[in-house]
Amino acid sequence: MRFQHALFTGALMPLLGEASSLNFDFPYNASTSVPYTISVDKQFIEETQLKAKLYRSSPDLKDDSNAEWIEGPPRETMVTLAKDWANSYDWFEVQDEINSNFSHYAVTIDGPSDWDHPVPLHFVHERSDDLDAIPLLLLHGWPSSHLEWSKVIKPLVSGNESSNVTFHIVAPDLPGFGFSPAPEYGGFSPSRMGIVFDKLMKTLGYEKYGVASTDLGWMVGMWMAHDVSESLVGHFTDFFLMQPNTTDLERYAQNQTTAEESAFISSITTWFGTRSSYATVHSQAPLAIGQAMSDTPVGFAGWILQLMHPISSGYAYTSQEIITDALMLWIQGVWGGLRSYKESFDSQPKAQAFPVTQVPTALTQWGGPSTTGIENFNFLPRDWAERWVNVVYLSRHDAGGHFPAVSEPDAWVQEVRHFFGGLITGAF
Ligand SMILES: *[C@@H]1O[C@H](CO)[C@@H](O)[C@H](O)[C@H]1NC(C)=O
Ligand SMILES: *[C@@H]1O[C@H](CO)[C@@H](O)[C@H](O)[C@H]1NC(C)=O
Ligand SMILES: *[C@@H]1O[C@H](CO)[C@@H](O)[C@H](O)[C@H]1NC(C)=O
Ligand SMILES: *[C@@H]1O[C@H](CO)[C@@H](O)[C@H](O)[C@H]1NC(C)=O
Ligand SMILES: *[C@@H]1O[C@H](CO)[C@@H](O)[C@H](O)[C@H]1NC(C)=O
Ligand SMILES: *[C@@H]1O[C@H](CO)[C@@H](O)[C@H](O)[C@H]1NC(C)=O
Repeated sequence: MRFQHALFTGALMPLLGEASSLNFDFPYNASTSVPYTISVDKQFIEETQLKAKLYRSSPDLKDDSNAEWIEGPPRETMVTLAKDWANSYDWFEVQDEINSNFSHYAVTIDGPSDWDHPVPLHFVHERSDDLDAIPLLLLHGWPSSHLEWSKVIKPLVSGNESSNVTFHIVAPDLPGFGFSPAPEYGGFSPSRMGIVFDKLMKTLGYEKYGVASTDLGWMVGMWMAHDVSESLVGHFTDFFLMQPNTTDLERYAQNQTTAEESAFISSITTWFGTRSSYATVHSQAPLAIGQAMSDTPVGFAGWILQLMHPISSGYAYTSQEIITDALMLWIQGVWGGLRSYKESFDSQPKAQAFPVTQVPTALTQWGGPSTTGIENFNFLPRDWAERWVNVVYLSRHDAGGHFPAVSEPDAWVQEVRHFFGGLITGAF
């Protein structure tokens, strides 16, 4: 058999075993932010497409015991992704849209005093024409990138006839995600990342600002609400991960918990018992899983979809959306992003022991994880959250799941305006 593909005429072979590069241009060592255009290496994208073409699928079980994707995405989904990636997906079209949609910048920020390494960052910065606009830092999680905010940035910046609350938006890719190069040294905890984002906001001239967070970005926001509390006007989140303590579990065992507490404990126990293996792997062996996943783009897309599918409130992702999400992590290599779980769940000071903060906090809770047993995963009781934060606003939505800025962007934008607008008028 003869390989006809141009990549096998020799271009690919010298790459084997080479140290990995970012596969995109990055202006290291810019101490003040410089305009940035995303530009991924063409040969790398072609190799990725070839890998998608060579995807090897795994068979399904012959019964329906995996109907809810407990074990992984079904074969048909994976084969469709591989075909779409090989035959019709065009990264450079997407890249043009990302570049033209928003104003992109790059900068390298000094690390915090106790972690002395420079932190290169890519971020979107969109300023409102309104001089009174509220500076707002958007912090995404895994497996997202700044693209999680694609649908909400423009409405937040512009406001509309029914809202005069506008924002100057700063939306970074977390280090190791998208086009922010991964940390090259261990110990870059959520707390330290928060210090770096505070420095970023200040280099842009924002002494006081709001934070809107989700997922791993929520952990960063939680630390910022303590470490740099004087910088924050408020913290808005659509995520709040809290496990029952032993007293809660004892009360639960004795039927002394409220209906709301019981529903939450049941959902979160089911989640950690059946759906959280990815997080354990990321936090315990990020390099091993990163080595495997950085070699298979379709396999990695399946890995992120396995997480996204049950918690997206039925949102029907297109192949293009999933492939783009996967690529945003895959282009620089997935290890750095995965490794943030190690830093988030395993680092000192313990990332899960959030210090209590008085920063006004808005909890928005979005229902609709559609899978059996985890329906109430997002419905943390208010008084539990108050163990850590100053909850001044809480709302519940039937739908939205874990990515409401993607699946319910209008409602998410309304909530952000409502909370920060209310902080300014003194409603909260
Ligand atoms: C960035 O600056 C550091 C220290 O000044 C230097 O060692 C490094 O080579 C520079 N990196 C690049 C990519 O220019
Ligand atoms: C571009 O912006 C539009 C909304 O203005 C959004 O729907 C779309 O997802 C964005 N695309 C990218 C790639 O960011
Ligand atoms: C928006 O309008 C309301 C009422 O018209 C006013 O109280 C509030 O201060 C305005 N907010 C901003 C940010 O201009
Ligand atoms: C669990 O949290 C509740 C509420 O803050 C508290 O009263 C209780 O002491 C906690 N239990 C443990 C074991 O920390
Ligand atoms: C709690 O309630 C369940 C169902 O109503 C019941 O089966 C169980 O015996 C109760 N447990 C205790 C400790 O009261
Ligand atoms: C204003 O924006 C919100 C959220 O994006 C949207 O739901 C609402 O329909 C908009 N109102 C007008 C009058 O355009």
